[in-house]
Amino acid sequence: MIYQAILLYILGITSATIVQDCGSVGTIVTVVIEDCELPPCLVTRPNNYDVNITFTPANEVTGLRTEIDAYIGGIHFPWPGPGGCNLIVEGSCPLQTSGQYKYHAAMPVLAEYPALSAVVSWIVIDQDGRQQVCVAFPITIV
Ligand SMILES: *[C@@H]1O[C@H](CO)[C@@H](O)[C@H](O)[C@H]1NC(C)=O
Repeated sequence: MIYQAILLYILGITSATIVQDCGSVGTIVTVVIEDCELPPCLVTRPNNYDVNITFTPANEVTGLRTEIDAYIGGIHFPWPGPGGCNLIVEGSCPLQTSGQYKYHAAMPVLAEYPALSAVVSWIVIDQDGRQQVCVAFPITIV
C-alpha cells in the first residue's frame, strides 16, 4: 500500500480517495478528492479542493444538479452545490449509459467556517431526481 502510494507519487498519478457509496444508482469508477487519499480529509481555510468523480450513469442523463450535505454533530446542513452538466469535463450532457464521464467540482472551504469535523455527502442528481452519484467522506476543518 505504501510502496504503491510512493510509486504513484513518483509517476505523478493522483490516486483515488477512499469514499463510501451512499446510494448511487450510477456506477462510480473513481473519486479523487484533492490532497486526500484516506479520509478524514484534513482541509484548511480558505481553500478550494477538487472533487473529481468519474462515473457511468444508470440511465440517460439530460440534466444534473449537485447537492452537498454536511452532517455535523447530528444535524444536516446544506452546503451550496456547484452545478451539474457544466461540471462534466470529459464528455457532455446528455450522458449515455455506455459512457464514462468525468465530473469536476470544487469544494469551497471558506475562511469563516469553524474548525470542526463533518461527514460530507456529495450527491449528483439527474433530471428525474435520481442520485446518479452519492459519495460520503469525513472531513476535518483545521
Ligand atoms: C480534477 O480534474 C480537473 C479537470 O480535469 C484537473 O484539472 C485537476 O487536476 C483534477 N484534480 C485532481 C486532484 O486530480
